[in-house]
Amino acid sequence: MSHPFKVSTAVFPVAGLGTRFLPASKVVPKEMLPVVDMPLIQYAANEAVEAGCTTLVFVVNRYKHAIADYFDTAYELEHKLEIKGKDDLLERVRSTLPDGVRCVFVTQSEARGLGHAVLCARPVVGDEPFAVLLPDDLIWNRRHGALAQMVAVAERERGSVIAVEDVPREKTGSYGIVSLREGGAAQADALAMSAIVEKPEPAQAPSTLAVVGRYILSGRIFDALDRTTPGAGGEIQLTDAIQALIADDQPVFACRFRGTRYDCGNKFGLVQATLRYALEDADLKAQTLTHMRRLLADHEGA
Ligand code: G1P
Repeated sequence: MSHPFKVSTAVFPVAGLGTRFLPASKVVPKEMLPVVDMPLIQYAANEAVEAGCTTLVFVVNRYKHAIADYFDTAYELEHKLEIKGKDDLLERVRSTLPDGVRCVFVTQSEARGLGHAVLCARPVVGDEPFAVLLPDDLIWNRRHGALAQMVAVAERERGSVIAVEDVPREKTGSYGIVSLREGGAAQADALAMSAIVEKPEPAQAPSTLAVVGRYILSGRIFDALDRTTPGAGGEIQLTDAIQALIADDQPVFACRFRGTRYDCGNKFGLVQATLRYALEDADLKAQTLTHMRRLLADHEGA
């Protein structure tokens, strides 16, 4: 690839049903569930903005209006906070989107899979490289976010970059699983990929290196998605289009990012993330620890 691999657009496929969080997700999109005081979508948006993205594309359906409302200006609320002199809160409410960052909402009217959701963003993204973030995967970092690390790799290697981490073999059926090219570059953040397969059974999985919900993709992925037929689960899989890029000799790298990933698409992941972020919050740390110690003592004594 000769042109620089600049990433300025991030796509958030957020049209999923969120059945694991019913009944809450009847009215609250799962991306709006909070970890401490911010919804999952805000963590993902912050990570994209930190990585240099200035256009955020949300692929939504008719039940996800709350996401558009969240990023919109809340005049009445802001006015009330202003006259009450609650400047800190006002600043928090206004900082959901920094200046210079714009949101675009695209509708995915049929639930035809992650690949189809990404394809819906094509008219906004065009042919440029872009990022995809799945907000269910919350990645905690003390320093640079996972996407910023991946953007640096994409710019350096001029190729697509997929976030990966090791999972237990019995879990391969929940993830895209990658194979690495033999003799490929040995840098942990840019492992040349030779194949990717969606949700293989443990016995068939080519490795235990699993895709986490962060991707930097060449604009060529859209042609590949256009040609992709339904795969695992009868859905148009992003994984299958990435496999097509690899088969077409396009550079695709797996990136072992620095950070801890919490799968907030399930209940226990959300509990883990909440504890982690509470312990990292200066105002909550001491009381959270005290509470956890008390709970542990109760359970051990029971
Ligand atoms: C999607 C992808 C899968 C990836 C996972 C990461 O699956 O299809 O390849 O490993 O996200 O969270 P989903 O979790 O939407 O079933």
